[in-house]
Amino acid sequence: MERFDHYMERCLYGPDGFYSSGTGSAGRRGDFITSPEVGPLFGVLLGRWLDQVWEAAGRPDPFVVIDAGTGPGTLLRGLAMAEPACAEAWQLTGVDRAVADVRIDGDIRIQPELPADLANSVIIANELLDNLPFRIVRRSDGGFVESFVSDGAFVDQALDEATVPAAAALGLRGGDSAGQVSESVPLLHDAAQWVRDVLAQKPLRLLALDYGDASTAALAARGGWLRTYRSHAKGSDPLIEPGLWDITTDIAVDQLPGSPAVVSQAAFLHQLGIDELVREGREVWEERAARPDMEAFRMRSRISESEALIDPTGLGSWLVLEWAP
Ligand SMILES: C[S@@+](CC[C@H](N)C(=O)[O-])C[C@H]1O[C@@H](n2cnc3c(N)ncnc32)[C@H](O)[C@@H]1O
Repeated sequence: MERFDHYMERCLYGPDGFYSSGTGSAGRRGDFITSPEVGPLFGVLLGRWLDQVWEAAGRPDPFVVIDAGTGPGTLLRGLAMAEPACAEAWQLTGVDRAVADVRIDGDIRIQPELPADLANSVIIANELLDNLPFRIVRRSDGGFVESFVSDGAFVDQALDEATVPAAAALGLRGGDSAGQVSESVPLLHDAAQWVRDVLAQKPLRLLALDYGDASTAALAARGGWLRTYRSHAKGSDPLIEPGLWDITTDIAVDQLPGSPAVVSQAAFLHQLGIDELVREGREVWEERAARPDMEAFRMRSRISESEALIDPTGLGSWLVLEWAP
């Protein structure tokens, strides 16, 4: 019998895990692509945000920009292509536990762990927190139970005493009397610890972009927070074919430490001027449509990229959490 977070750790990062075996970076997510994978526009906008942070910090040099959970490094390549003003001082670094120490595109380094010193650093974590192993708990008969995995099925166990205060803080309703249960929710202990560890190093900013909700209660009410993906499909059962499916959760902001500013990805990108960039793209395309060159196609592509990035039923609804320790 395995606690769910241990099972997830094995499925994603064990020897034959989804990420460690390379399955995760090959055709990862298929039609459920991440924002940097949509195209170069996301990098241009994040570059604008980095410029704001760099200016506000007095233009530090070096200015260390870390993409945590970088996967194949698409976000870093997008930033490098965008060349914002802070590029004159930045050191672009990727961190991914499932990638060995490598360099991409010459001087961008990907390493397995965050550097120990995060002074003058900005950490960007796009769809990382949802991938950190989580436990599953619910209220039952006035106490709490936790999900374990045994022989391909979920099995309930009483929650260990040490974790009861954390579960009680989730504010779950129901399960007060015999036979009653509340909805199950994820207990995001690894994600909370990861954020706590990063903030303790006092970086300039931590920016996490992920799917989720403001509260655990909201996840309990709507359900559907436990997700699995594989190349072109969204799965339904995290217990089938261990290691062949990505396992993720919607995050709950109220389980994360500190007091991040939270906006939707659509609002974040509007603030950074996505509309103006799309207008510019459309104008350039209309001017050159008769004899389009690569630049004209890139500009036209901003229109469809923007639609995907601010889609209120998809990436636009992702939460952007910004900590300024
Ligand atoms: C869903 S992918 C994110 C992809 C990428 N950020 C993007 O936007 O396309 C999550 C990545 O986080 C990595 N990861 C998981 N836990 C990590 C940790 N503690 N530190 C660094 N990377 C981690 C996984 O190996 C995986 O490559």
